[in-house]
Amino acid sequence: MDESIYAPRDWGVHPPYLIEAYKSTKVRAPREPLVALPQTLSELTGPVYGHGAVKDGDDDLTLNAVVDGPPLGERIVVCGRVADEFDNPVPDTLVEIWQANAAGRYIHEADGHDAPLDPNFLGAGRCATDADGRYRFITIRPGAYPWPNHHKGFRPAHIHFSLLGPSFVTRLVTQMYFPGDPLMDIDPILLGIPNETARRALVATYSVEETVAEWALGYRFDIVLRGREATPREG
Ligand SMILES: [Fe+2]
Repeated sequence: MDESIYAPRDWGVHPPYLIEAYKSTKVRAPREPLVALPQTLSELTGPVYGHGAVKDGDDDLTLNAVVDGPPLGERIVVCGRVADEFDNPVPDTLVEIWQANAAGRYIHEADGHDAPLDPNFLGAGRCATDADGRYRFITIRPGAYPWPNHHKGFRPAHIHFSLLGPSFVTRLVTQMYFPGDPLMDIDPILLGIPNETARRALVATYSVEETVAEWALGYRFDIVLRGREATPREG
């Protein structure tokens, strides 16, 4: 096995563990230097999740938790291509998303935001990429929500993403943002990513092509696992 198969993490792209303006990082950032583990067989090969773990309909958040009607909010399509650092497609990889509802509220006991839950919206979905590395979700555009990190803090609208990729080394947990959101300019999590090009990689592109006429706006969010063009992890 070629141990140089994955490039080391580029800290010019990914946020540091400690971000001064992002309070939570102060208690969870490592205090000691990290110990690099060699990329052995287990790191380079497993796990791999494929279509077997995903059920039909898991990719449609407007239907996967319906109780008595459609969820409220703006229906959107979120799709893209997952590639490796050499622009090869990454097929059969698990893509999971989770998000707040249209009012900016999560179904989670720790979410005390004074906004309504939607009984028809779970806010979680998953799918596997196809042979060309493509994925596609139908969901509701999430609302911004207050964040106690700082006075008048609100998170920009975002969707959380987790990708396994072909191995442990390619695992990526990150967030997708929406173009034109003014809160992105003052968000300590997004600003923790060290350069503008890398920050832009987390902003979806509005896509006429992916828009479904008279039904849903389309957003494109392409993801690169590892390498110089890697999609940054979240802070
Ligand atoms: Fe969130």
